Amino acid sequence: MRLGGRELVNFSSNDYLGLAWHPAVRAAYAEGGGAGSARLISGNRPAHDLLEAALADKLGRTVLLFSSGYHANLALLATVPEPGDLVVSDALNHASIIDGLRLSKARRVILPHDQPDQIPAGAALAVVEGLYSMDGDTPDLRRWTGDHWLAVDEAHALGAIGPGGRGVAAMQDVAPDFIVGTLGKALGVAGAFVAGPAALRELLISQGRAFIYTTGMPEPVALAALVAIRLADDERRERLAHNARRLREGLREVGARVLGAHHVVPIVTVERTMDVAARLLDAGIYAPGIRFPTVPRGQERVRFTVSSEHTVEQVDRCVDAVATALR
Ligand SMILES: Cc1ncc(COP(=O)(O)O)c(C=O)c1O
Repeated sequence: MRLGGRELVNFSSNDYLGLAWHPAVRAAYAEGGGAGSARLISGNRPAHDLLEAALADKLGRTVLLFSSGYHANLALLATVPEPGDLVVSDALNHASIIDGLRLSKARRVILPHDQPDQIPAGAALAVVEGLYSMDGDTPDLRRWTGDHWLAVDEAHALGAIGPGGRGVAAMQDVAPDFIVGTLGKALGVAGAFVAGPAALRELLISQGRAFIYTTGMPEPVALAALVAIRLADDERRERLAHNARRLREGLREVGARVLGAHHVVPIVTVERTMDVAARLLDAGIYAPGIRFPTVPRGQERVRFTVSSEHTVEQVDRCVDAVATALR
């Protein structure tokens, strides 16, 4: 990537499989046009149906597309819980989950991160992420299942991990009631979907305001996503896992405090965070410093996100740059 006229190695993107600039994905943007209206008016395009069918086939559930993951969480969480239902949400859940629940008339309980033992009796719905984007950790989803519905936001996992890229729930052999997936991260395009039972799709079509009152996804985006789904194969996922392992092991060896697992790789740097990020930039590595209030005080960190397309040399350069910056 180029920043301020300099060529840098980008360790900050969610383009985990290097598909955002893949020639076949880019070529797909040349086809089709804008939806012209909301899907329920006259904006339903064949590309929407094809993409929903491809995702449904992959996930074994019905699928409804949204313009973004933000819209998908807003629609799901503002629509599914009934007024007065008790909904529990993990403290580290994404802003779109928080905002979706704010729009619902449910009672909300925010649980400390990954503490499913604290789910109160009578909860109607629990909401978690598959792979947390600031901590790089994955909850044990079996512990989150119970007498309530489970919604898992697989934004950072879908396409990148799990069998066939189906995410953390598939990896752990857990079947959540509702899955949110985004098309703008590992698949490199834009947009998102909610997957679940057929009745959920019907409910979101008829009552999901973030679906009803917005223009349908442009066809080229849906067509590009279809190409990206085909390209997101095991070979790319293996390269991603290999790079993530190499970076994690290298960072541990040079004494960094590394969090989580998989391709989101934060190192806790506390008061040195912005200094470490600046030194990395000097060494040609772009990785953002993450500070309060995004993370709690004392947990400030530099966060690396890995791509299948990073070379081994780039990963090793990143480790060397961290070793120097931490000295
Ligand atoms: C967990 C999670 N959910 C939803 C979103 C929103 O996705 P989108 O960028 O498609 O709106 C994000 C993106 O940052 C995310 O990290």
